[in-house]
Amino acid sequence: MENVLKHIEGRRQTSLDELFDFLRIPSVSADSAFAGDMTRCAEWVRDSMSAAGLTAEIIPTAGHPIVFGERIEDPSLPTVLIYGHYDVQPPDPLDLWTSPAFEPVVRDGKIFARGATDDKGQLFTHIKSIEAWTKVNGKMPVNVKFLIEGEEEVGSSNLDIFLERNKDKVQADVAVVSDTSQYGDGIPAITCGLRGIVAAEVTLTGPSKDLHSGIYGGSIANPVNALARMCGALVDEYGRIQIPGFYDDVVDLTEEERAAMAALPFSEADYLAETGSRAVFGEEGFSTLERRSSRPTCDINGFYGGYAGEGPKTIVPSSATAKITCRLVPDMKPTKILDALETFLRSRIAPGLAMEFKRFHSCEAFVFDPTSVWMDASCRAVEQAFGQAPVLVREGGSIPVVLSFKQILGLDTLLLGWGRNSDNLHSPDEHFRVEDFHRGTLASACLWNELAQVQQS
Ligand code: BES
Ligand code: MN
Ligand code: MN
Repeated sequence: MENVLKHIEGRRQTSLDELFDFLRIPSVSADSAFAGDMTRCAEWVRDSMSAAGLTAEIIPTAGHPIVFGERIEDPSLPTVLIYGHYDVQPPDPLDLWTSPAFEPVVRDGKIFARGATDDKGQLFTHIKSIEAWTKVNGKMPVNVKFLIEGEEEVGSSNLDIFLERNKDKVQADVAVVSDTSQYGDGIPAITCGLRGIVAAEVTLTGPSKDLHSGIYGGSIANPVNALARMCGALVDEYGRIQIPGFYDDVVDLTEEERAAMAALPFSEADYLAETGSRAVFGEEGFSTLERRSSRPTCDINGFYGGYAGEGPKTIVPSSATAKITCRLVPDMKPTKILDALETFLRSRIAPGLAMEFKRFHSCEAFVFDPTSVWMDASCRAVEQAFGQAPVLVREGGSIPVVLSFKQILGLDTLLLGWGRNSDNLHSPDEHFRVEDFHRGTLASACLWNELAQVQQS
């Protein structure tokens, strides 16, 4: 073990250089213009697994390919399934990046690039730690399988089919995912709950073309006015969502859970600085931590229609569109929420307008049992590398695969995040601290050792 950690220490710069190669590939899953880069990126991941001592292959799907790798030492050892995603969010808005999104650089001890923390930098820690183990000891203390997909940022819609068809291939004792965050500065975390999500797009169409607002305005419903009214009605001024039935299935936090959350250090000033905001806002009666991890939301993600160029323009636009997502908590049902949202909007359409409601991906929320033997082992590994025991937290983001692992494979997942919520994921200037990348690799190396000692009942 000692030599494995030394090996990682000694190869800090090489690992960083390799990560830079990974980050230079613009693997944007949402945009078909990057299809060739997606393939190239999958190949890069496969080759880096091979170099780490795994057998690796690319598996095509109806969408972007999956990379699968494995190293089976001995069937009597525990088998760990490591999941990650090589796809990244679009880099837009490009002009807000200090340096180009796909030209990684280190500034102030941080690696800046799209995907640096979400999820290339984090998943790469596991490849590097396994490489260190196989180079130093010639073997792994556990069996490992990698499932690295290319569609996480667009909803993982082809992954369930793959899991259903390949249950034996991917079967394991426990799953490991590094695609979440530490709790804060010097406070590593293990995530024991994630929110679910539903995503939709609503379009209102009125006149067949933009009309002169002097000639026709006031006599024909304006789709942008109408959609703004409809969307404005979704959440009230106290942060309470107004869709009938929305909260019906929500499982409230227990008093113990609320107390545990309240005991975590939290600075509102830091939170405002981190988000660049002037004040917090949310459902009355809940703390910021509760609001962002354990309460449901309804957010307009984008709203457009009419003229958005410079200067005024006098029109009644012909259409308006809003993109909407709701974050879900246990036991909210995606279909029920989408139905309720659609009904809410339909009941408010102004005369003469047509509404189209498109449904995208969805997944349910998930909370874990924090008392498993695997959890204890991963706490020890994190503590060894970070010099500090991790806290257990619930996170507000979503990772659809985690529920699929449970439902399709019966697998529990260990969510071990090396990044930070302040790493600007999905935003301009996404970054990952060099130190977090390094400590994550060390923690990963310790993890295999700890998981090997778990006595399964
Ligand atoms: N890695 C994130 C999720 C995340 C980030 C969870 C930080 C907890 C803390 C993941 O890549 C992501 O962005 N997920 C999407 C899922 C969606 C596209 C289905 C999300 O949460 O918006
Ligand atoms: Mn991610
Ligand atoms: Mn993401």
